[in-house]
Amino acid sequence: MADSPMSTTGVFAGATDAVRRHDPAVRGFASDNYAGVHPEILAAIALANEGHQIAYGEDQYTEHLQTVFRKHFGDRAEAYPVFNGTGANVVALQALLPRWGAVIAAGTAHINVDECGAPEKMGGIKLLTIITPDGKLTPELIDQQAWGWGDEHRAQPLAVSITQSTELGTCYTAEEVRAICEHAHERGMLVHMDGSRLANAAASLDLPFRAFTTDAGVDVLSFGGTKNGLLFGEAVVVLNPDRVRDIKYLRKMSMQLASKMRFVSVQFEALLTGDLWLRNAGHANAMAKRLEAAVRGIDGVTVVRPAEANAVFAVLPREVSERLQKRYRFYFWDEHTGEVRWMAAFDTTEADIDAFAAAIAEEMGRV
Ligand SMILES: Cc1ncc(COP(=O)(O)O)c(C=O)c1O
Repeated sequence: MADSPMSTTGVFAGATDAVRRHDPAVRGFASDNYAGVHPEILAAIALANEGHQIAYGEDQYTEHLQTVFRKHFGDRAEAYPVFNGTGANVVALQALLPRWGAVIAAGTAHINVDECGAPEKMGGIKLLTIITPDGKLTPELIDQQAWGWGDEHRAQPLAVSITQSTELGTCYTAEEVRAICEHAHERGMLVHMDGSRLANAAASLDLPFRAFTTDAGVDVLSFGGTKNGLLFGEAVVVLNPDRVRDIKYLRKMSMQLASKMRFVSVQFEALLTGDLWLRNAGHANAMAKRLEAAVRGIDGVTVVRPAEANAVFAVLPREVSERLQKRYRFYFWDEHTGEVRWMAAFDTTEADIDAFAAAIAEEMGRV
């Protein structure tokens, strides 16, 4: 390639003017988003590099991606890669609703508390929220907001959004999802699932994705990649194309159409073709379980709900948490009760967990 400024032989690999500015040995418990990129994903990105491919999703990686997603979600699934989870949710929800539509969601839902009002502001969608004990909706809870159809004074409840695994580290069983979908559909409402951590739920339930999505009646899904080892990238996955249409226009209007889409798609190919998704999610879940078991044995620490995915929620004295935060990063989840959230990621090690649990025990010993 003597006449090309770019080499296909990789002679530039590793050469950069950038300087490493962080300690790669430091890992905390604040978020699975704090983790880096899984090496197999980085390799896939490099594999897709060089040469030209058609932009905006007409590339060969995105074309193949449909086969990859159909293997997991059934023959009718359609995958639309996007940049991030908030964007996936806003695109997916818009597709379910007319301009007067509203979405029923748990009060703790990411769409309600962590998206800076994007569904409302960017999507023009009214959210009807419900207080839940564990982040999970049920048909009975949904009925608190599922009313007023035909009344022009009330935003019309035409969709339900559930998160799997939930923002509180719990998982819906396949039967629970099915019951919600049946209930919603009988009342003329469609169902969206925020699957930002869908892989963690699948690993926890020990079920294939489709058992608690397509087969349970979910209409559209936000499928998460970033928290499971991707550099970035999520996908809106249409599971019922009879009911959910026009995602491609909504994606562009919502500023979620990547021009160099091949680099999102190839990451999903690497994640979902083999078992990388399961290895990463299963490992993160196992690390959360290890932490849960360790702290349950420490006097004064209360684990407030079962760690069914990759998060542990606990209450302990505030001064202990504040001292611990000087040693490890993590967040207060509820400032009022002092509840904290500890999250494991695909790259959390057993040694990380053991050292953190020892630090918790040590700081508790100083109370
Ligand atoms: C449940 C849930 N949904 C969606 C998201 C998407 O977030 P982002 O827009 O940061 O990719 C997150 C990220 O923390 C999340 O926890």
